[in-house]
Amino acid sequence: MKSFQNIQSFLLTIILLFSFVNCQNIPKPRYQQTSSLIGNRLYFFGGDLSTTDYSNDNAANITNEVWYLDLSSSFNTATPPWNKYVGMPIGYILSAPCVSPIDNSVVFVGGRMFIANTANISLGSSSVYVFNSNSSLWTPPRIIGFKSSFKLRTEIHPVIDNYGKIYTFGGNNYTNSDNSNLSVDYNDMSILDTTSMSWSTLPISANAPLPFFGYTATLLPTGIIVYIGGYKSTPPGSDDKYETVNMNEVYTLYNILYIVT
Ligand SMILES: *[C@@H]1O[C@H](CO)[C@@H](O)[C@H](O)[C@H]1NC(C)=O
Ligand SMILES: *[C@@H]1O[C@H](CO)[C@@H](O)[C@H](O)[C@H]1NC(C)=O
Ligand SMILES: *[C@@H]1O[C@H](CO)[C@@H](O)[C@H](O)[C@H]1NC(C)=O
Ligand SMILES: *[C@@H]1O[C@H](CO)[C@@H](O)[C@H](O)[C@H]1NC(C)=O
Ligand SMILES: *[C@@H]1O[C@H](CO)[C@@H](O)[C@H](O)[C@H]1NC(C)=O
Repeated sequence: MKSFQNIQSFLLTIILLFSFVNCQNIPKPRYQQTSSLIGNRLYFFGGDLSTTDYSNDNAANITNEVWYLDLSSSFNTATPPWNKYVGMPIGYILSAPCVSPIDNSVVFVGGRMFIANTANISLGSSSVYVFNSNSSLWTPPRIIGFKSSFKLRTEIHPVIDNYGKIYTFGGNNYTNSDNSNLSVDYNDMSILDTTSMSWSTLPISANAPLPFFGYTATLLPTGIIVYIGGYKSTPPGSDDKYETVNMNEVYTLYNILYIVT
């Protein structure tokens, strides 16, 4: 009987130990996080852990956590082997990080940055962070010619080309519903050359689209960037400030010229 009890408690210990270890390695539910495939690792950056505030306004809890899945060997998708990684300097949501094809660093341009694990926008943070996946270091790079109106720029989708140049169009500086009247929408195109960390903003051409945000941007192998969907500012005098972009309205950027097709 005694040895039976011992076996029982031994089993219980194993079960507890197993579930403890397991809990440690399962990220809490989150949304609006971003992801990047770097080599064999699929990384997830940030996200909102709040279960009550889906608009990120008041009770949001924007995490700085970074998790990854190692894709070099197969695994059971019912029990993905999560690995927790070094956290970001900021809580982060709603962007599209660019993986440099030159050195595999991940460049975060704009997006909504928070004081980690709070609902508070981090107004003092850098607008650009570089994550070196070799050293796991995060650095706010010193950028030559940075444009101050890009200090807070969200709901954008930057894309990176084979030469390490990041193209970022439009967006807004909206932070939360309390000051939406103060936010500005943009239709400028900025280019960050990650090899020299130099910034340039193109003059807004006559046939540029009206300010828009929340779109997707895709760089085609031909060098054309295709912009689809999102919200755009309405022409002056309209009843509503925004309208959704018609899916037939596709904007392309090629050779630094806007061509509406
Ligand atoms: C990471 O290591 C690889 C292999 O050594 C190297 O080619 C790459 O440049 C490194 N990237 C960075 C950002 O240091
Ligand atoms: C955010 O979530 C983390 C992890 O669950 C928790 O430690 C922290 O207290 C939360 N912060 C807020 C403001 O809810
Ligand atoms: C977040 O903002 C609230 C209200 O503005 C303030 O009371 C709180 O101290 C701030 N939290 C942090 C971590 O800065
Ligand atoms: C924002 O502007 C709208 C329309 O002009 C107005 O009704 C609303 O009260 C303003 N909100 C704030 C917080 O100022
Ligand atoms: C957005 O930009 C406008 C114009 O520069 C500024 O008045 C406003 O305060 C900015 N909003 C935020 C949240 O910084």
